[in-house]
Amino acid sequence: MSMTATMTRMNINLLSPTDKQALTQNTYAKKSYFQDLFTKDQIEVNCESFSRSFQNEIERILLEKNLIEEETPLECLHEVLSDEMKAYNFDDGVNKISTYFYETDQAFMKVYHQYIQFLREHFVKEPFWFQETPTIRIHCPNARNSHHYPRYHTDIAYGHPPEEINIWLPLTDILTGHGFRTMSVSSSKSIIESFDYHYEKFINEAIHNKNFSAYCDTLSAPAPTSFGEMLAFDPRCIHTGEPLVSHTRASMDIRILPLSQYKKMTIEYQGSGRRKILFSPGNCYNIQNSDYFLENTGI
Ligand SMILES: [Fe+2]
Repeated sequence: MSMTATMTRMNINLLSPTDKQALTQNTYAKKSYFQDLFTKDQIEVNCESFSRSFQNEIERILLEKNLIEEETPLECLHEVLSDEMKAYNFDDGVNKISTYFYETDQAFMKVYHQYIQFLREHFVKEPFWFQETPTIRIHCPNARNSHHYPRYHTDIAYGHPPEEINIWLPLTDILTGHGFRTMSVSSSKSIIESFDYHYEKFINEAIHNKNFSAYCDTLSAPAPTSFGEMLAFDPRCIHTGEPLVSHTRASMDIRILPLSQYKKMTIEYQGSGRRKILFSPGNCYNIQNSDYFLENTGI
């Protein structure tokens, strides 16, 4: 099996606005691979040993990077972090403390790769491409620029392939809520349809119109996922973070792309953010697929 695909694909940015709309309409018209696999829009899967391991790893890295002075439960981090660490950059909604996890270390990545093995054996049960670096988020209550949130979106609207599967893993207890909301595919479809399948118009409204966000609040629900479970959802589901009430939420999110779906893709997807990252092996995804990687690295 070759490690990377050789098919030539049309870059998403070369499509005309009309073709992009048609692609989006088609994405929402059909049953997704996720729905085929799980007959639902979102499912929860127990992965408690990994939740605990990731939690421990994050606490360790916080100490080793001198971001905290003594062991602190993740849900209490807001009590010891400075305002500067907690404040959100209004453009991308990322706070400084989360940026320290753009790079982790070997021990953390070992746990991540064991988690990939777990997903391969117990979740999708077929080979997949996987996000090379997981996204760690640490959201604190009362942080400056919290009004960045909610910011309803789908990752697809930011350039991700609709063939991906979103996985979100809380690393703190739910307490007063994770500050994360999701919507069903059918509600998401009705919203995207109301913008004539024009993602940019939807995103623009979600950023600038508080009334629209309030409407999305009525269609979405807080993630009910307990610590120890992971939430996997259809990538067409609109979702958002929202301000935390009184505790810090730590979470990890990744995307995986089954090879069976990747092979059928005729579009090369590319992020619309600052980095313009390509959603392809060796770029957003690990250069080796799950099976090649797990066979050759002795996990
Ligand atoms: Fe997202």
